[in-house]
Amino acid sequence: MLITKKHVSLLLLLLVMFFFHLSSGTKITYNVQSYGAKPDGKTDSTKAFLNAWAAACASTKSVMIYVPQGRYLLASAAFWGQNCKNKDTTIKIDGTLVAPSDYKVIGNTGNWLKFERVNGLTISGGTFDGQGAALWTCKTSGKSCPNGATGLTFSNSSNINIIGLTSENSQMFHILVDNCDNVKLQGVKVSAPGNSPNTDGIHVQYSSRVTIMNSRIGTGDDCISIGPGTSNLWIENIACGPGHGISIGSLGWEVQEPGVQNVTVKTVTFKGTQNGLRVKTWARTSNGFVKDILFQHIVMTNVQNPIIIDQNYCPNNENCPHQGSGVKISDIKYRDIRGTSATEVAVKFDCSKKYPCSGISLEDVNLSYKNQPAEASCANAGGRASGFEKPNSCL
Ligand SMILES: *[C@@H]1O[C@H](CO)[C@@H](O)[C@H](O)[C@H]1NC(C)=O
Ligand SMILES: *[C@@H]1O[C@H](CO)[C@@H](O)[C@H](O)[C@H]1NC(C)=O
Ligand SMILES: *[C@@H]1O[C@H](CO)[C@@H](O)[C@H](O)[C@H]1NC(C)=O
Repeated sequence: MLITKKHVSLLLLLLVMFFFHLSSGTKITYNVQSYGAKPDGKTDSTKAFLNAWAAACASTKSVMIYVPQGRYLLASAAFWGQNCKNKDTTIKIDGTLVAPSDYKVIGNTGNWLKFERVNGLTISGGTFDGQGAALWTCKTSGKSCPNGATGLTFSNSSNINIIGLTSENSQMFHILVDNCDNVKLQGVKVSAPGNSPNTDGIHVQYSSRVTIMNSRIGTGDDCISIGPGTSNLWIENIACGPGHGISIGSLGWEVQEPGVQNVTVKTVTFKGTQNGLRVKTWARTSNGFVKDILFQHIVMTNVQNPIIIDQNYCPNNENCPHQGSGVKISDIKYRDIRGTSATEVAVKFDCSKKYPCSGISLEDVNLSYKNQPAEASCANAGGRASGFEKPNSCL
């Protein structure tokens, strides 16, 4: 038979299709039920999940861990990645992972489910139920109780993708990103009651290139909180409330502390939250800093402190021996911020006497209080306002 150009291209096409099939269609799948996980919400499935993880980890190819529908009871577990032989693990979850109802079981462990030193992980779907209610009751009653465990932790990890995950009723923070690089969270739902203590939605610290998009967060503490050592953080299209808003800080607890820089917060709505856009530093000696921050296209509805920089944070005047904050705040831009404040002062810059805020820029701010223009208050803050100004700028 004559081999024509047509034959060659057909053969090439078939080869391409074959390899495409290999690379995408045939991920080896590890079903947690094959490792003994029970979808009954009662049988402890921790070992089964860890064993499925270990098996997936040993594969040199792309792998998928599959969690079918049902409720799986899990105690504290750490999924270590440093010995994994592949950099492409997907955990696809159709079910609900539920923490023990007795909060003491995980309450002193610090973390419920933790991914540590993992490179190349996607978690798709799933509900994570921390069953925190009994611990919150204990905490608010003033009894002595455990600190509680963070719901889902990613630490010392890189190239992580979280898609369409729900985290609810965590004992403490819902999701923690700590010491990570390149983490994307999309379509995440976080929910806990507005009066549940310390239930921050997503906390990011010591991490770079974290993206949080298209998510809905309602909690009893910050929707998103940003700790020291965070850079190149992108937050976009978030609905926040109830909760304490989006907060950079608290910073400046330590004397030696890495700064926060290049944070973008875009297209966010705040409904009935305690704060909107907050920067908060301890009134303590520190070499930390906050710079190059952009807040843009923000809508506030009945927010107590829509725009606030608080550099005199020192609850009960404890642990801040007559010190001003050493954290240097510069180049913070607020653009197109509108809506309603629940208090008269909608813009408050309470900066450090020792290191005044500089380069604050307000552009097109339109915040009202009870159908009147709200007020602004400044201390040790420098910068400029342009465009529409309501309240009148105090810079
Ligand atoms: C994670 O990284 C931090 C900072 O590099 C380090 O101090 C810590 O020991 C690491 N933890 C683990 C478990 O590797
Ligand atoms: C700031 O961070 C964004 C990602 O959030 C990144 O695309 C951009 O390059 C960073 N800018 C600088 C100057 O590093
Ligand atoms: C400012 O907000 C008020 C109340 O929402 C609205 O009526 C007004 O048109 C806004 N002004 C500008 C310039 O956007």
